Amino acid sequence: RIAYVNGRYVPHRDASVHVEDRGYQFADGVYEVCEVRAGRLIDARLHLDRLDRSLRELRIAPAMSRAALLTVLRETVRRNRVRDGLVYMQVTRGAARRDHAFPAAQTAPALVVTARAADPAQGARLAESGIAVITVPDTRWARVDIKSVSLLPNVLAKQQAKEAGAREAWFVDAAGNVTEGASTNAWIVTSAGALVTRPADSGILRGITRTVLMAVAASEGLRVEERAFSRAEALEAREAFISSASGIVLPVVRIDGQAVGDGKVGPVARRLRTRFHDFAE
Ligand code: PDD
Repeated sequence: RIAYVNGRYVPHRDASVHVEDRGYQFADGVYEVCEVRAGRLIDARLHLDRLDRSLRELRIAPAMSRAALLTVLRETVRRNRVRDGLVYMQVTRGAARRDHAFPAAQTAPALVVTARAADPAQGARLAESGIAVITVPDTRWARVDIKSVSLLPNVLAKQQAKEAGAREAWFVDAAGNVTEGASTNAWIVTSAGALVTRPADSGILRGITRTVLMAVAASEGLRVEERAFSRAEALEAREAFISSASGIVLPVVRIDGQAVGDGKVGPVARRLRTRFHDFAE
């Protein structure tokens, strides 16, 4: 395997950054994960738009132009011979003597890109069986709209899910409403057949998959309600599912050990998953 690290393609086992990289010391950086399908980057434009936004919000300079970054992403995918999988990119504020405030303006941001294959059959299996989620209190900071590498609450939530035999953890805010998953957006289907997902301007990351699914839903004649939903409402829902670049749509059949709907994968999640790539770029 090959990784791109600050201007060079290097063997994955030797791919390292400086000990004073601010990503390492302060989680002072942002990232994106983009699906690779049949050798193509899915929704790259939307992911790079979001990367630009995350960088702007944190006042980190872009590591390179968008065109150059696209070239690096494609080259990393090519060198790793990834047909189906994921490409990961991370930009940090760079390496400088440790000091919380920003380093000198000439400090170059650090860019790392990796790519790895993922077996599409594994996703298909999960989509057939459905997954279990647990709920955990949302203890994250208020700027989860920024895709920062500061992911400790997400790490702890995911580990707790794993130890409970679940695939994902849903964060629940102080009002009892589900915000999103540790690395996915959360959705339910009401008994009336409407899709419900939390508004992207209130305590979640605006998922690219989520955005594209809005268009899929519209073309399927499904009503989407962008509003908060509670854990209790999710337990009463007909269906539930999660969305992300890595899993696209995965049906949720259990929440905290309780069956959702009839406890089986529902038709709406199945349909959205099937149609997703007709709407992705
Ligand atoms: N996770 N919410 C959170 C907290 C996420 O980390 C992600 C993405 C999403 C879904 O966003 P998108 O549809 O753009 O992937 C929602 C990536 C896949 C990850 O951390 O691996």
